[in-house]
Amino acid sequence: MERLFDKLHAVGSERLSFAPAFTGRAFLLRRRDGNILMYSSGCIADEAVALLTHGEITRQYINHHHQAMPSCDWISERFGAPLFVPESEARTVAEQCRVGGTFSGRGFQFPDFEMISIRGHSVGSTCFLWDDGTHRYLFTEDSVYLKDDAWTAAVLKSSDRQAYVQSLGLIRELDFDVLVPSMSNGSPIQRTEPNHTKRSREWAKLGGRRARVRLLERGGAYHGCAHCCRSNI
Ligand SMILES: [Fe+2]
Repeated sequence: MERLFDKLHAVGSERLSFAPAFTGRAFLLRRRDGNILMYSSGCIADEAVALLTHGEITRQYINHHHQAMPSCDWISERFGAPLFVPESEARTVAEQCRVGGTFSGRGFQFPDFEMISIRGHSVGSTCFLWDDGTHRYLFTEDSVYLKDDAWTAAVLKSSDRQAYVQSLGLIRELDFDVLVPSMSNGSPIQRTEPNHTKRSREWAKLGGRRARVRLLERGGAYHGCAHCCRSNI
């Protein structure tokens, strides 16, 4: 477990089988009204003791079906935390693990925790905005991830490119100061400058002529740990 901020910890870091240079990870959101586990990791069981020191987990959220994996059931059973998934992808998720609840569109799951549909990467892609009282974190899964510290979009053959571009425009307008993607090949997060100058610059790189849009071909199984953890559920 890696403490990134007082209330945000990275957990279950794993080298990704489909992109070995990248690390995927889940995040523990330490909240007064119940901890949330964001994303998923095949190495999460390695963190059982550390997770328990921070108390129970109220819910686990995954932003799209690529993050569905058997370890979500381990979280559900070990912590009694139901898995919440996009309604439009619930059936696909259920092929990998149990679905405990669904969400769609935009709205607050809790007063400090807002879900926002960012359809494009997948039909159910959703980002989450969490305000811990000090920072506003935006969890973008791999709709926007960090490659060499640059914001990068993962456009798949199955992606809806037009919807993706619209969603990136929506993300641009959101008020946040920490980007928390599900994968990176360097720092797991990126702080944005208060005046949004850096965000504008990153946006220009992402959407401009020199866009760093990376086509990831993922075939069948999406996630998988390249033998970097003990549990590998
Ligand atoms: Fe994905």
